[in-house]
Amino acid sequence: MAQLSPTPIKDALQSTEPIDAIRVQGWVRTRRDSKDFSFIELNDGSSLRNLQIIAKKETLPNYADIQKLSTGASVVVQGALVASQGKGQKWELVADNIEIVGTADDSYPLQKKGHTPEFLREIAHLRPRSNLFGSVFRVRSRLAFAVHEFFQQRGFIYVHTPIITGSDCEGAGELFRVSTIDLTNPPRKNGEIDYTQDFFARQTYLTVSGQLEAEALALALAKVYTFGPTFRAENSNTSRHASEFWMIEPEMAFCDLNGNMDLAEEFVKYLIADARKHCPDEMELFATFVDKELLARLDFVLERPFQRIAYTDAVDLLKKSGERFEFPIGYGLNLQSEHERWLTEKHFKRPVTVFNFPKEIKPFYMRVSDDGRTVAAMDLLVPGIGEIVGGSQREERLDVLEENMRRHNMDPADYKWYLDLRRYGTVPHSGFGLGFERMLMFVTGVPNIRDVIPFARTPGSAEF
Ligand code: 4AD
Ligand code: MG
Repeated sequence: MAQLSPTPIKDALQSTEPIDAIRVQGWVRTRRDSKDFSFIELNDGSSLRNLQIIAKKETLPNYADIQKLSTGASVVVQGALVASQGKGQKWELVADNIEIVGTADDSYPLQKKGHTPEFLREIAHLRPRSNLFGSVFRVRSRLAFAVHEFFQQRGFIYVHTPIITGSDCEGAGELFRVSTIDLTNPPRKNGEIDYTQDFFARQTYLTVSGQLEAEALALALAKVYTFGPTFRAENSNTSRHASEFWMIEPEMAFCDLNGNMDLAEEFVKYLIADARKHCPDEMELFATFVDKELLARLDFVLERPFQRIAYTDAVDLLKKSGERFEFPIGYGLNLQSEHERWLTEKHFKRPVTVFNFPKEIKPFYMRVSDDGRTVAAMDLLVPGIGEIVGGSQREERLDVLEENMRRHNMDPADYKWYLDLRRYGTVPHSGFGLGFERMLMFVTGVPNIRDVIPFARTPGSAEF
């Protein structure tokens, strides 16, 4: 039999006419027998939908083996795509030949009945074969593409910032150390570990953010963005924190906080609209099985402007809310997730961008406002999740930046290259970071960050 190149099942299902000879390949989702026939539901990951294969006893010499095929087995099928006699599908494939590539026995853990997300996390290597996770990862792929489309359309240059770095951008000390020093017998000098003998002749870490390096690139290329993995050794076991996550960080020269907030809001809307447009089957699945309110909420977010509110005013609202919060609220305290959720879900009932935070609770690089008390920071909060974007206008004045560093117990001498950017042709500039997984949680309604990353890393867990 002539070898045809395989057609993605997605394309076969969208065919406008019957096809005499077609080849598909994939994994058996279910198989059932009728007299002299076997019906196979085949999925190849290209779409949520399966293609129904009709295997006839009279035409297939290996029919006895086909009858033993069970869920999870892999096959290559050649035959004719014909209008389906049955309900529920337009096309089906009548097989001339079925090659059994890999069998699966009944220990295959993905059976037809629904499984809990917790169970599926334990088989993270097989869960992409489920409808839910196949859909999540297709949407993840689509939105990664949309990220590039959004920035490229707007003239941003894609830059790659290092994964191994010597600086703690966020100053929160949540760093994973990168070292080749022998842990059982480290070189010492005056009793302390001597990192000058380490691989990079200094202490290095996995990056928590590409921002500082992105600033250097923005002060040459004007508009840049990064999209890469970031790492935080934050010991918080919540549904919204991962130890390894992907962040998109645009940085713009000649741009103040307002321009930055405009871009962040436009970006969030763009990604939602993109998933709505390009992943209709997946979005329908999420709305049916994950979150009944999902589509209404997303469309509502698309239709309305986001709320903007200064931190001080947000704190006043929270104090007057009459709510009994677990954590205290007051000027100079961080907004906790319960506060963020009250603002977005109960009070404004839409995404909220909070700006101008007290300088004490924000990192050294943020621009000090004229009031001397606040910095030009912003956090974009969305219903159900809370913070999805964090950003700021950066301090572009050399003396103020050095002062900020000393206030944060940092030695300006360690950041000479960063300070040089303020010495030579400094300009006002701004940027933000969008947590890609948090965005995926918002778009899919999936409530746990572990379920929007193929292989999640969280405290105490780095299997697979
Ligand atoms: O607010 P963050 O810490 O901001 C920065 O890192 C800045 N340097 C960004 C910038 O201005 N270029 O982090 C940005 C976003 C958060 O709003 C959140 O969406 C996500 O990154 N994020 C996490 N996502 C998953 N797990 C974690 N542990 C996260 N920490 C932050
Ligand atoms: Mg933040």
